[in-house]
Amino acid sequence: MNLVSKPINHLEGEIICPGDKSISQRVLIIGSLLNCDMEIEGFLDAYDPNSTLNALNKIGASIKKNNSSVILTKRPNGFVDASEELDLGNSGTGIRLMLGLVSGLGIGASFIGDSSLSKRPMSRVIDPLREMGAIIKSFNGKLPITVSKSNIINSYSYKLPVASAQVKSCLLLAAIASKNDINLIEPKITRDHTERMIEYFGGAINYGDASKIGNIELSYRELQSKSNYQIVGDFSSASFIIVASLISYNSEVLIKNVGLNETRCGLLKVLQMMGGEIQITQNKEVCNEKVGDILVKSSNLEGIEVPDSIIPNIIDEIPILSIAAVFANGKTLIKNASELKVKESDRLSAISNGLDKLKIRHELFDDGLSIYGNYDELDTSEVIDSYGDHRIAMSFLIAGARSKNGLKVKNCGNIKTSFPSFKDIMNSIGMKIDEKN
Ligand code: S3P
Repeated sequence: MNLVSKPINHLEGEIICPGDKSISQRVLIIGSLLNCDMEIEGFLDAYDPNSTLNALNKIGASIKKNNSSVILTKRPNGFVDASEELDLGNSGTGIRLMLGLVSGLGIGASFIGDSSLSKRPMSRVIDPLREMGAIIKSFNGKLPITVSKSNIINSYSYKLPVASAQVKSCLLLAAIASKNDINLIEPKITRDHTERMIEYFGGAINYGDASKIGNIELSYRELQSKSNYQIVGDFSSASFIIVASLISYNSEVLIKNVGLNETRCGLLKVLQMMGGEIQITQNKEVCNEKVGDILVKSSNLEGIEVPDSIIPNIIDEIPILSIAAVFANGKTLIKNASELKVKESDRLSAISNGLDKLKIRHELFDDGLSIYGNYDELDTSEVIDSYGDHRIAMSFLIAGARSKNGLKVKNCGNIKTSFPSFKDIMNSIGMKIDEKN
């Protein structure tokens, strides 16, 4: 599916942020482990959470979608070996977290995914899971992967070689599903939704003394049932609305109910450093996650050097940050971001190829990009390739707001993995995004 985004006058209005993808996936998995009746509100009804939901039902969970909510019911029986392959589609979070869960439960299952997921590295979870006692067969550290009945050891300790919340969460889930303790050390602080959710359901997570940043200790104790869980809005989805409002003229947009977990919303700090007018109101906590409303106004942005330490906390927002950089005065430098090469696409190349088509001066490094910004109007008749990557597609569509004759982006079907209402929500505040052959 191809989309075209036409130039606009201004953006205005109020939006309710759709549910968080990472949290939607985690609450299905942890909720299934709790084995209770629970209603989940704010679930993101998109391909990625849905493939996790289907995979869980195939190993014996009991989860149903019911209009705007999801209902988990107490299982009469335990988890079972999967009788069919578990297809996690496009979802890195789905596959890596499910590998941890299945290994921890000591059941058998085979895993597959789409062509993008089948190219992504899985050794980062397979290696430590094997050290923990999991029995895993894979094709050169990639999909397809088969897990056989595993026996997880107690008190495993592991220093993560990559800053990855997916790896951390996979291992935490393997430990908790097998009722064991684990100690993890991450090189940089990554999103902590799993730890927060475990704590919310009564689990014991200890972060050691303050000098040991990135130290996470789980001491196993049984999680407690709850009848309800409320998922906050997805900051990554909000980031497209935020940047669209900043770069378009005379705009003012309020985004309500946005998740503001500090390990996740680093882009706010970066955009504020660039001169973005962004205000946060109605701050509160819901199910151990921070949430608030974000008011954004058109701003004159300045290029900056993005601090290295914040990279894991803006990892999914670098494509849309690159679009903000295109309209910022001067150079924006992003380094230490080589993880972007192993996302849904090689995002560094995908951004660079799109910028080439837009004739934007930039440099591509092995671990980042520098972008020389301040373009009045983008003027191209070339088609941008999203490489089937939802975040690349949405980022370049946002850039279309400041184009002369519109921007056409091909291969946009995967927007449905994370933000199915993207086109409708963006158009409701004044964007002009349409299907195009
Ligand atoms: C995610 C973690 C990040 C992020 C992904 C979602 C998660 O991946 O890019 O979109 O839900 O844990 P890594 O942890 O591998 O960087």
